[in-house]
Amino acid sequence: MPISSQPNDAFNSPITLPPVTRSQTPAPTPAQQPTPPSDPQRSAQSDATKLHWQDNAPAEPAPSECILAARQIVKSYSIGNQERRILDEVDFSLRPAECVFLMGPSGSGKTTLLSILGMLLSPNSGQLYFGGLRVDQISPEQRTEIRRKCIGFVFQRLQLINALDALDNVAIPVTLSGTPLSEARTQAADLLCRVGLESHLNALPGSMSPGQCQRVAMARAVIHRPPLVLADEPTAALDGQSGEAVMQLLRELTQERGLSTVVVTHDHRMEKFADRICRLDNGRFQ
Ligand SMILES: Nc1ncnc2c1ncn2[C@@H]1O[C@H](COP(=O)(O)OP(=O)(O)OP(=O)(O)O)[C@@H](O)[C@H]1O
Ligand SMILES: [Mg+2]
Repeated sequence: MPISSQPNDAFNSPITLPPVTRSQTPAPTPAQQPTPPSDPQRSAQSDATKLHWQDNAPAEPAPSECILAARQIVKSYSIGNQERRILDEVDFSLRPAECVFLMGPSGSGKTTLLSILGMLLSPNSGQLYFGGLRVDQISPEQRTEIRRKCIGFVFQRLQLINALDALDNVAIPVTLSGTPLSEARTQAADLLCRVGLESHLNALPGSMSPGQCQRVAMARAVIHRPPLVLADEPTAALDGQSGEAVMQLLRELTQERGLSTVVVTHDHRMEKFADRICRLDNGRFQ
């Protein structure tokens, strides 16, 4: 099957990614049949069963079954004469349409791992697969192309363009792939309505609340229907209620489109939105 079940012009590119197949074997975690996070009936018990699959199963799935797979990732920095290992032979797997949370103490390496998964940062060693393709072995230009077309980023510091209104903050990035501006604006307006910002299409980021800006950033991340969305602390700047609303929307948007998602968060109140939780500590999964 294709990486995304949704039509995705991003794949009409010279880079042909191998198809990702869903495993015929049961997923190795109790969260293998996740209750949709939007389901208010979701029980506390089901949340308690979320485990990193290393907790109860030794093997990671094959990279060909994953939209994203990292194997034996090492990242270290030299500080003075000393080398400091930030990620210590980390394995990570993300299945199609799965939402995995990365949690762990400050400094444990969450952003570093997310940056490596998003091909924004290179590891010292290890293998990274996107759709079964070894992306650590392709050219930087090809990685950039995959990142632009196939990954949507939501960052804590939203990186909205202050001089552009909400509509163009969402629309302009898709015009870079050749979509005419008028069409991009129509798609952006639809998405902004979808995230409840129909009355803020022409608002500048400076005049919107943090929660509204975060919703603009989410719309921007998914407008090109990337098969993968990576979000680093998307609710950190928000109060509890706005944070829940934003996370709920992120899950709805990604579920509607069948997108796979990795979310870094510190916020335990958000755990109910995850299909699976991976906890990092000192550069290793617990
Ligand atoms: N460019 C760099 N040079 C040296 N050390 C770095 C660099 N980037 C990150 N680090 C170190 O790597 C460690 C992990 O950083 P990272 O940002 O991944 O942590 P984190 O888990 O995301 O933390 P937080 O929850 O506070 O955002 C930290 O000790 C950080 O100081
Ligand atoms: Mg971080």
